[in-house]
Amino acid sequence: MTTPTSSAGDASTSTPSIPTDDRPYSPGLEGIIAAETALGYVDGANGRLLYRGYRIGDLVEHGTYGAVAHLLWTGEWDPTARLTTAPIPPAVMAILRSLPAEAKPMDALRTAVSAWGATQRLDWPPTVEQARALTEFSPSALAAFARLRRGLEPVEPNPELDLVTGFLYQLNGEVPDPGTARALDAYFIVGAEHGLNASTFAARVITSTRSDIASAIAGAIGAMKGPLHGGAPSEVVDQLSQVGSPEHAEEWIRAALDRGERLMGFGHRVYRAYDPRAAALRKVAESMPHKPDWLDLAIKVEDVALRILAERHPERPLKTNVEYYAAPVLQGVGLTPDLFPATFALSRHAGWTAHVLEQAASNRLIRPDARYVGPAERDLPG
Ligand code: ACO
Repeated sequence: MTTPTSSAGDASTSTPSIPTDDRPYSPGLEGIIAAETALGYVDGANGRLLYRGYRIGDLVEHGTYGAVAHLLWTGEWDPTARLTTAPIPPAVMAILRSLPAEAKPMDALRTAVSAWGATQRLDWPPTVEQARALTEFSPSALAAFARLRRGLEPVEPNPELDLVTGFLYQLNGEVPDPGTARALDAYFIVGAEHGLNASTFAARVITSTRSDIASAIAGAIGAMKGPLHGGAPSEVVDQLSQVGSPEHAEEWIRAALDRGERLMGFGHRVYRAYDPRAAALRKVAESMPHKPDWLDLAIKVEDVALRILAERHPERPLKTNVEYYAAPVLQGVGLTPDLFPATFALSRHAGWTAHVLEQAASNRLIRPDARYVGPAERDLPG
């Protein structure tokens, strides 16, 4: 433990000393309960993920993103609940048009959400209507930016289409086939909620000050942008292309681990068992109409990787994580790798906004303490 330092020349007896602070400190807040939630249950030991008690695999099989968002916001399971994409306010479109084409899609999305907030009346407390409006706005904003940077005009939302189909339509200018839309919808369900991760916590902290929902989600996007959070399914694609063929898998994996590299799409801070989201997305990837040609390779490499990781780390189960099978799904629906993180952020809107509602419903300002480890009280020099 570090304690406040006092300089050797500090002979002053008039200033009170700074007491040692022995309260427990957990770097990264690991193991600290900082909220109560009825939204998501992440069971790392047994590889379970539940949204309001419902298994993620069942939600992917029988639900839609619209129904899952409704479940997270209201607690009610209504399979007919739907979401569409929403028009972009002119002031926000003007800002999207002014962004450089090389801006990162996550930066464009965060900027759009912030600008959207400036165009709305977002009274406290946040409401399901606000959550829905923001969740329906963001796919339009990301699709518009993705077109503008290619010199194309944005596509107006089609209210006949559900949110995920509408997003792909506004991105590509064509209505996707139902199998493709269904695959991305499954990805959105899987990405919708995952407990008190860094971005969700950021959203709850901002909400706890009674700030508005757009500020909370802009902050959450900022938190998710960091490479330790947003994940990198595109790196899975890179590694598989380096492996090249199933016969080379064993040799390539052993050499990569010998170099101290990590296998992308394996291991997780919470899951010690197979990530249930990876299991759900593997099924989706295998039944997609336009599978990437490397999906078979991925399935074969996974077996080899799991065997070698178990051999190298007998003390620590390292299993497949969600990123491994998110990669073929996102690529298979035609997204470019640089859109993967922002698409993940779109899917998390349902969970983030549900946490905003939950925080606001039993709010207490989130204000932890820091242990002071700086100099003891002293006089300015001279
Ligand atoms: N490949 C090889 N070795 C690994 C891997 C991996 N994917 N993951 C962990 N290890 C090893 C570490 O090298 C370490 O070994 P050591 O003790 O000999 O140094 C041991 O397992 C424990 O690793 P930690 O870093 O303590 O595990 P942590 O729980 O902090 O890491 C993480 C989790 C960051 C996801 C890690 O497993 C990893 O880097 N995986 C690869 C990247 C990846 O797939 N990221 C996506 C995660 S899912 C998501 O973010 C949504």
